[in-house]
Amino acid sequence: MPPILTISDMKTRAERRVPKMFFDYADSGAWTESTYRANETDFGRIKLRQRVLVDMTDRSLASEMVGQKVAMPVALSPTGLTGMQHADGEILAAQAAEEFGVPFSLSTMSICSIEDVAAHTKKPFWFQLYVMKDRDFIGNLIDRAKAAGCSALILTLDLQIIGQRHKDLRNGLSAPPKFTPKHIWQMATRPRWCLGMLGTRRHSFGNIVGHAKNVSDLSSLSSWTAEQFDPQLSWKDVEWIKQRWGGKLILKGILDEDDARAAADSGADALIVSNHGGRQLDGAPSSISMLPRILEAVGDRIEVHLDGGIRSGQDVLKAVALGAKGIYIGRPFLYGLGAGGKDGVRQVLEIIAKELDVSMALCGKRLITDVDHRILMGNPFSLVDHGGGTGGAA
Ligand code: GLV
Repeated sequence: MPPILTISDMKTRAERRVPKMFFDYADSGAWTESTYRANETDFGRIKLRQRVLVDMTDRSLASEMVGQKVAMPVALSPTGLTGMQHADGEILAAQAAEEFGVPFSLSTMSICSIEDVAAHTKKPFWFQLYVMKDRDFIGNLIDRAKAAGCSALILTLDLQIIGQRHKDLRNGLSAPPKFTPKHIWQMATRPRWCLGMLGTRRHSFGNIVGHAKNVSDLSSLSSWTAEQFDPQLSWKDVEWIKQRWGGKLILKGILDEDDARAAADSGADALIVSNHGGRQLDGAPSSISMLPRILEAVGDRIEVHLDGGIRSGQDVLKAVALGAKGIYIGRPFLYGLGAGGKDGVRQVLEIIAKELDVSMALCGKRLITDVDHRILMGNPFSLVDHGGGTGGAA
């Protein structure tokens, strides 16, 4: 087998090992996928500044996210159906993250439950919350995350209605998969995946089945969203959730300066500049292109993080240089998981850390905490007018 040197190599291997419906679920963007693509390609427009004859010894990527020490400022994003990329996927990814020293975030729509992940890890992980109409269930979910010792709550703001992903509709995505000839074929051609799934009892949405009222069989994320997610979620609810949780709160899905100001006003500890990996509003700008505007609007009032389009250590370096204090990877770790379970996730973290470290050194820096916009050859996004917004810097 050829060596795995990049996230793209990992993606190729994951595609060979994960049944098409689940590989596609991770790889999808909404509608034309233009925002999904822009998240990646916009990083290519940012150029690094090469420096020479600078002392490169004793380098460190260590920093902090929401006051917690991290080996590098990279966290694993909350991703739905992670346990369908690989048997027991959330547990394995959480263990890999813990060993590496970066945060793992568990999605509400995970296959392994909060309690299950807590039982198989030693350090606290983060929990991501989707808000449903049934507030008793949400209150319980928050309490369960607290009881499991989760050290931050990520509240997702941009998915009360789900964006249409054509591949999922064409594939008839469901968890656990249905047994139609097409699905049986997709699984039969992935024997390693099937063996893993035969060896685990974790096949459905662990945080929900058996906990939410009237839910015994829950198969489709999109139908569950349509029925249960609360389309009236408001900033008032954020206040309630913040109070009930009482710990570090991170607001995910901010792509607009006015929303960023409201996020800062809410007293949350951090916000994530995000368009949900291009999976929600297709046609929205890339995350990295909006980062400077959001920082300009609220950077002195709230910690600003970013997700979307990160495929290398250089992408992480560019986001840090533009001012993000924390960067999230979703698809890269899912590819690692699908390709090689826990070991694949570890490899992904190593690929990113190594590229981040070497690139930082070649830009003349020894500490990630010293990296700022001066390692870049200008910023292509500071002058771009996306229109529409009501305030912030041009
Ligand atoms: C859920 O978070 C999704 O984007 O599918």
